Amino acid sequence: WLTCFAGVAVAYLLGATPTGYLAGKMLRGIDIREHGSRSTGATNVLRTLGKGPALVVLLVDVLKGVAAILFARWFYPWLGVPADGVAWAVCLCGLAVLLGHSRSLWLGFTGGKSAATGLGVLLALAWPVGLGAAFVFLLVLAVVRIVSLASMLAAATAALLVCLLPEPLPYRLLVIAGGLYVIVLHRANVARLLAGTEPKIGRRA
Ligand code: G3P
Repeated sequence: WLTCFAGVAVAYLLGATPTGYLAGKMLRGIDIREHGSRSTGATNVLRTLGKGPALVVLLVDVLKGVAAILFARWFYPWLGVPADGVAWAVCLCGLAVLLGHSRSLWLGFTGGKSAATGLGVLLALAWPVGLGAAFVFLLVLAVVRIVSLASMLAAATAALLVCLLPEPLPYRLLVIAGGLYVIVLHRANVARLLAGTEPKIGRRA
């Protein structure tokens, strides 16, 4: 249990690396959590700091998710954990990296909404699910130009796809629980969507 916890802690700390916050501090000396949607995610970096920083933050945040899954898949077999146990440990590490991104230890348990990191988790866990979610994200974004709506629909798509494809139970639980978590993190966006005040991409928040 202690070694299992150590791997989960590594995944959490990977997720907790405050990419968007660091971009705000290093490039403009600001706390991004005091701007736009107050999220540290790439969308708010785009609004607040522009396209270049947003692209870098997006990429690093996706890679955090990829790295957590690859790490878990290497670490637990290396410890001698049997394949069934590895799948469950991967599930916990996937949830931990999402939690770390949105509730970062370094930011007083604030952060982003774990959509980009979630995409990274999906791509490393079951790439067809990740590609399906990314396709829905881009499609919705192209039509309505609202990132939060695209993120939530992509999360729901991933949950549906992982149940349709022959994936192991721990992976299904990770994608369903992670997807629900990402949607819950968007609750302020849902309120703005219902009020018709959610900003579209390319316009000021
Ligand atoms: O990934 C976060 C995105 O879905 C919404 O971001 O800043 O508009 O709340 P934001």
